Amino acid sequence: MQDISEFSRRTGKKIGFVPTMGYLHEGHCALMIKARDESDIVITSIFVNPAQFSPNEDYNDYPRDFLRDYHICKSCGVDYVFYPDTKEIYPNDYYTYVNVNALTETLEGKYRPEHFKGVTTIVLKLFNIIKPHFAYFGQKDAQQAAVIRKMIKDLNLDIKLKVSETVREVNGLAKSSRNTYLTAEQKEEASALYKALNEGKRLVLKEKMYDTKELKKEIKKFIETNSPDSSLQYIAVTDNNNLEKISNLKDYKGGVLISLAAYYGKTRLIDNILFEK
Ligand code: PAJ
Repeated sequence: MQDISEFSRRTGKKIGFVPTMGYLHEGHCALMIKARDESDIVITSIFVNPAQFSPNEDYNDYPRDFLRDYHICKSCGVDYVFYPDTKEIYPNDYYTYVNVNALTETLEGKYRPEHFKGVTTIVLKLFNIIKPHFAYFGQKDAQQAAVIRKMIKDLNLDIKLKVSETVREVNGLAKSSRNTYLTAEQKEEASALYKALNEGKRLVLKEKMYDTKELKKEIKKFIETNSPDSSLQYIAVTDNNNLEKISNLKDYKGGVLISLAAYYGKTRLIDNILFEK
């Protein structure tokens, strides 16, 4: 892979890279199509990264279907699919990890303490293997995008990060490989999450509800009313770069990120909305 990338770079080609864990859906495709549009060579990686799952999470159950993914990559104009073996990426004597501090301790990081260390480690390894000029990530995982943005800046990586907006089902549910765990009824109910985030945005921009404690209470109420089978883990109102909590939006200017996580049975879903204030 490094030889192919090196050759492409030497011949003046721009490499666009889309890292994934496979079980591809339209959200991933949107990133590939954008990469196709903006780069000469498009490379996608498919690797279910054990380092970003904690022992009680769904690493073993995570859906996998390489042939299906391969055909989706082809139909989205991908030139190379990088599909390494786990032992090749993490041999028995693997010892090196990279971590972004602070940003990884809030929101998702509070409930998934080792998760982002696993993400930054694999993404940096993939960057070194694929040698991309552009890297494509989804706003669906807002904190992941912010953490990667910080790693690129702090470690002076010569890579341009491109973040694409979340692709959703018709009912608003964010597309996710983990949606395969949901029943049809749960998929319908879980559409309340995005509706609640939109209600939050409306309350801020139209009703001028600036006290974020009150705002979060309203969003929670909306979810509990419209999706009684959900179990909300957190709602947070932060900026989109350092993910710092905003307690009052009155004098705040810039991007407002409302993010949340909720369980439907054993399935954990995350979603967010980003808007300018
Ligand atoms: P995965 O969940 O497969 O997602 C790969 C990329 O697709 C991420 O950048 C994610 O934000 C984006 N994505 C997922 N669902 C999306 C949607 N509905 N709309 C737009 N983009 C979406 O994120 C990972 O894998 C891993 O953590 C990875 C970065 C590959 C490291 O292992």
